[in-house]
Amino acid sequence: MRTGDFDAAWLPPAAFRAVGRRRTLLRAGDGPLVDTVHGEVADACGRFGGRVVRDGGEDAELVLEVTGGPAGAGLGDEGFALARRGGTTTVTASGGRGLLYGLFHVVRLGEDAFRGERPREEHRPALAVRMLDHWDNVAVHPVMGQVERGYAGGSLFWADGRARGDLGRVRAYGRLLAACGVNAVAVNNVNVHETEAHLLTDRIGEVAAIADALRPYGIRTHLSVTFAAPMVLGSLPTADPLDAAVRAWWRGATARVYEAIGDFGGYVVKADSEGRPGPFAYGRSHADGANALAAALEPYGGTVHWRTFVYDHHQDWRDRSTDRARAAYDHFTPLDGEFAPNAVLQVKHGPMDFQVREPVSPLIGAMPRTRLAVEVQATQEYTGQQRHVCWLGPMWSEVLRFRPEGGSGPRVGELARGGLVAVSNAGDDPFWTGHPLAQANLYTFGRLAWDPRADPGAVLDEWIRLTFTPERSADPVRLTDGLHAVLDGSWATYEKYTAPLGVGFMVQPGHHYGPSVDGYEYSPWGTYHFADRDGVGVDRSTATGTGYAGQYAGPWAEVYGSVETCPDELLLFFHHVPYGHVLHSGRTVIQHIYDTRFEGVAEVEEARRVWAGLADLVDPARHARVAERYEEQLRSAREWRDQVNSYFLRKSGVPDARGRTIH
Ligand code: GCU
Repeated sequence: MRTGDFDAAWLPPAAFRAVGRRRTLLRAGDGPLVDTVHGEVADACGRFGGRVVRDGGEDAELVLEVTGGPAGAGLGDEGFALARRGGTTTVTASGGRGLLYGLFHVVRLGEDAFRGERPREEHRPALAVRMLDHWDNVAVHPVMGQVERGYAGGSLFWADGRARGDLGRVRAYGRLLAACGVNAVAVNNVNVHETEAHLLTDRIGEVAAIADALRPYGIRTHLSVTFAAPMVLGSLPTADPLDAAVRAWWRGATARVYEAIGDFGGYVVKADSEGRPGPFAYGRSHADGANALAAALEPYGGTVHWRTFVYDHHQDWRDRSTDRARAAYDHFTPLDGEFAPNAVLQVKHGPMDFQVREPVSPLIGAMPRTRLAVEVQATQEYTGQQRHVCWLGPMWSEVLRFRPEGGSGPRVGELARGGLVAVSNAGDDPFWTGHPLAQANLYTFGRLAWDPRADPGAVLDEWIRLTFTPERSADPVRLTDGLHAVLDGSWATYEKYTAPLGVGFMVQPGHHYGPSVDGYEYSPWGTYHFADRDGVGVDRSTATGTGYAGQYAGPWAEVYGSVETCPDELLLFFHHVPYGHVLHSGRTVIQHIYDTRFEGVAEVEEARRVWAGLADLVDPARHARVAERYEEQLRSAREWRDQVNSYFLRKSGVPDARGRTIH
C-alpha cells in the first residue's frame, strides 16, 4: 500500500472507496480549503467511478456544504454536522476547515456513512490547538543528529541545510495530519541552535514555504525561537524582557514574520531549561519573559507556547532534598494570573520526562487563571525508540481522563485549554515513523486531541481499519485480531521489562536506549532510584520525603503520600520501600520485579509470533520492516530483563521464588 516513495499510512486509496463511488455535490463556494476538499473527492471519484459536481442541481448521494445559515451556526470554525435522509448523506460546516474534517469523517465511516437514516449529529474538536512539535534541526547537530530524539530518519522539512525544495511530502504529511485532526505544527527543535535561530528573521521565507504546503490542510505553522534572539539576531546587548529596546525588537521581528506568513501560529519557547537562555539571567520571571513575546504576537492573534520544563540539571546526587519532580510546580504556580491571555504554558504530562510511567503533573489544574497546554511525547525516546512496539494510546488516555481534584472535578482533557501537543515521531523514513506500527501513535494522538474522552481502543480499531483495509484482505478477522494483539497491550508489555513500578529511567545515558540501571544514578540530572541492599524508590512523601506528593490537590496528596494507598504502578515513584514490601497485587516488590521482567519478554515473544503469522495478509515491505524490528525488540527486552533482574538479585540477595535463571 505505497504511493510514490512513501507509505500511504491511514490514507490508502482504498480508504476512499465509499466516497469515490458516489455522486457528490459540493456546495461550498470558494476558498483554498474547499478546493482541497474538491481535490480529495475528485481524486477518489477518478479512482472508483463516482462523480463530483460543484453547485450543480442533480441528485447526490453525498452533499458537502458550507452554510452561513442556522445549520452551520454553532459548529465553530472546525466543527461539522453529519446527517442522512432519503438516500443522501450531508456534511454541513460553517467553513472549509469544518468541511475537510467532515469529509475525513465520512472516509472513516466508509460504507456505513451511506446506510439507512442518520439523525443530525454534530462534531466539534474539544481542544482548539492540536499540535505537533518537531524537534528538527536545519543543520545536522553533531550529537543529536538532524532530528533530536528522532527515530524516523531525517527531517520532513529540512534537507541539506535548507527547507526542502520539493514540499510534496510535506503536503502529504499535512493531509495525514488533517485526517486525524491535527491543526498546528512547530517546524523546528525547541533547542534552538545557531542556524535555526535565523528562521525567525532572515530565513523566514523558508518557513513561509512550509506554511504554504501545510495550509491547504488547515494546519498553522509555529516556530521555536530562542529567548536570546534580540542578542543573537539583533545585536542588542541584552535580552531582558522588560527592556524597551528588547520589546521593540520582538515587535519588529514578529511584524515581519506576519508579513511573510499571515496565519502564523506563534512561538514555542524553551527558556531557562537545560542550558537554554531565559529570563532568570536578568532577574525576571517566566511571566515577564512569556509576556514580552505574547505582546509582540497579540496584534496578529498569535500565541506563545512557553514550556514549563524548568529544573536544575546540575543537581548534586548526594543532595536528597532537591527533587526534580517538584520543579515545574514550584517555579510556575506562584505566577498564576500573571500570564497574558495569549501566553500558553506548555506542561509535560508528567513531572519528570516522558517515562513509561509517571503520575500526572501536579501543575495541571493548579493554575486556574492560566491557559495550559499538555505535552506528550509521540517520539518514543524512553519507550523503545520506534524499534519496540509501544502504542501509547492507553497512557495518553489515562492522563487526559485524570481528574486533578478527584471526585467529579474537571479532567486533564478539559483543563488543557491551551491545547494538546505531541513531540512528533515522524521523519523522512518511507514509513513516516521508522516502525510502521508507530504510525498508530501519531494517529491516536490526533484523535485524542480532537476528543480527549475518546476510547483509545476504538481509535486503534479505526487506525487498523483505515491503514490495513481488512475488509479487502483474505482473512479480515485474523488480520484485525492479530494487529490488536500486537498493539493493544504493548505499552504494558514495555513497562514490564523496563524500569519497574514508576521508578523511571535506568536507561543508557545520552541516547536513552537500552538498560543501564545505574546509568544516571550518580549524575547531575536528578533522575535517581536510590536502590540499596534493603530497598528501592524515591521518598516523595510529605512526612519523610521531598514533599512532592503534597503538591497534589484533592485526594491525591493523601493517596500518593501513603505507602498503603499509593497505586502499585507508581509506588517507587513516591516511596522508598524494602524489597519485601507486599504490593496490593499480593506480590513482594522484589518478586514483582522478577516476575514482570519474565512476563514482558514472554509477551514480546508472543507478539513476534503473532506478527509472523500475518505475513500473508500484510504488504510485504511493511511486514518485513516490522518483523526485523521485532528481532531487535526481543534482543533488547531480554537485555532489560537480565540486567534489571541481576541488578536487584545482587543488591537484595533475595532469590527468585520460582528459581528461574538470573545471572
Ligand atoms: C528531554 C530530551 C531532550 C529534550 C528535552 C525537552 O530531556 O532528552 O532531548 O530537549 O526533553 O523536552 O526539552
